Amino acid sequence: MSVPGETILTVEDLKTYFYTEGGVVQAVDGISFDVRAGEIVGVVGESGAGKSVATTSILRLLDDAGEIVSGEITYRDTTIVGFEEAEEGGELVPRDDMLTKSEMRKEIRGNEIAIIFQDPMESLNPVYKVGSQIREFIELNRDLEGEDAKEEAIEMLREVGIPEPENRYDDYPHQFSGGMRQRVLIAMALGCRPSLIIADEPTTALDVTVEGQILDLVDDLRDEYGTSFIWVTHDMGVVAEICDRVNVMYLGQIVEQGPVDDIFHDTQHPYTESLLASIPRPDKTVEDLNPIAGVMPQAMNPPRGCRFHTRCPDAREACRDIEPRFVDVGEAPSHRAACLKHDDVGYWDSVPIENESRDGVVADEEPPAGGQETEAGR
Ligand SMILES: Nc1ncnc2c1ncn2[C@@H]1O[C@H](COP(=O)(O)OP(=O)(O)OP(=O)(O)O)[C@@H](O)[C@H]1O
Ligand code: SF4
Ligand SMILES: [Mg+2]
Repeated sequence: MSVPGETILTVEDLKTYFYTEGGVVQAVDGISFDVRAGEIVGVVGESGAGKSVATTSILRLLDDAGEIVSGEITYRDTTIVGFEEAEEGGELVPRDDMLTKSEMRKEIRGNEIAIIFQDPMESLNPVYKVGSQIREFIELNRDLEGEDAKEEAIEMLREVGIPEPENRYDDYPHQFSGGMRQRVLIAMALGCRPSLIIADEPTTALDVTVEGQILDLVDDLRDEYGTSFIWVTHDMGVVAEICDRVNVMYLGQIVEQGPVDDIFHDTQHPYTESLLASIPRPDKTVEDLNPIAGVMPQAMNPPRGCRFHTRCPDAREACRDIEPRFVDVGEAPSHRAACLKHDDVGYWDSVPIENESRDGVVADEEPPAGGQETEAGR
């Protein structure tokens, strides 16, 4: 049982690369974040930012081409990922205390950390009844069998708002709507009483009303069971609705992280500003929406300097050469961003870059008061 607020998962300087015929894809390149008991932590960014690779790395569910090359992932006192140097200055090798794949399967997946994907049909077997799939999952991960496991499966279906769960227990996945299938997956995950559920864009394919219902459900379940969630999404609107803290990812890195209120009302990174400007809102027309100009570069060949400089409306010459450090910013103690504006490295003295997203309006921007003396956060 977790103490509310205690840190249960820590990811430190994680790097996950894919070794392909075309070259090395730096899908996740040095990210750090943590999750506390009972909180919902967002991971947000455009397609290809590295959100899924980051979260599947936590469960070590990468395909054969993918490799965690360095970093640490700790779940409570357990080392999910940990390395040491084979000899001083030598290559990194897995530490002795790092779980084996079979230990991951037995000790972590399902019963401690569960994952829910965008397409429920990938996780549900179409030829088995929904109830028996939940029951089997509960039997695998908990000390319950037979009728007891069945009762618990029905109870979980009821918990996630499936009407007449005793009858729906015997239905097949295709007999449920998309939103109901996502509820079934949440029931399945929850039935194993994990401390953490990773949800990878589970509501993206649903219409807005059903999405809203599922987000409300998750919020209630978190309150009732104290379960933590990592919620992966490309939608800042979803982040605003359920997350406590958020990590904004761009091209394999976290560019801003902090409490949701601060990220929305004291935004410190131009990429986060761009994501916020592209949220549809009732008071905005389609013309008012401001999609981010340009496309994200390839993770195989990321730009030098700041990875966002090819699209950033505030980019200056310094951004082409200098990689921003992740530093404390804003008012909240855990608010951090990686932008040269917050680092004393000559950004404010250098010349603006003319790129696709710049309208020539920010060249005269003043440095923030005292803004060049920020504390290094890494
Ligand atoms: N199996 C793989 N082999 C090679 N490259 C991969 C593989 N899986 C992911 N990548 C690359 O890693 C990067 C990050 O991909 P990832 O799937 O994590 O993005 P994402 O943020 O989850 O995007 P989306 O919102 O589309 O789901 C991308 O450049 C992607 O092409
Ligand atoms: S470092 Fe430069 S390019 Fe990168 S986000 Fe900041 S202003 Fe934009
Ligand atoms: Mg993804």
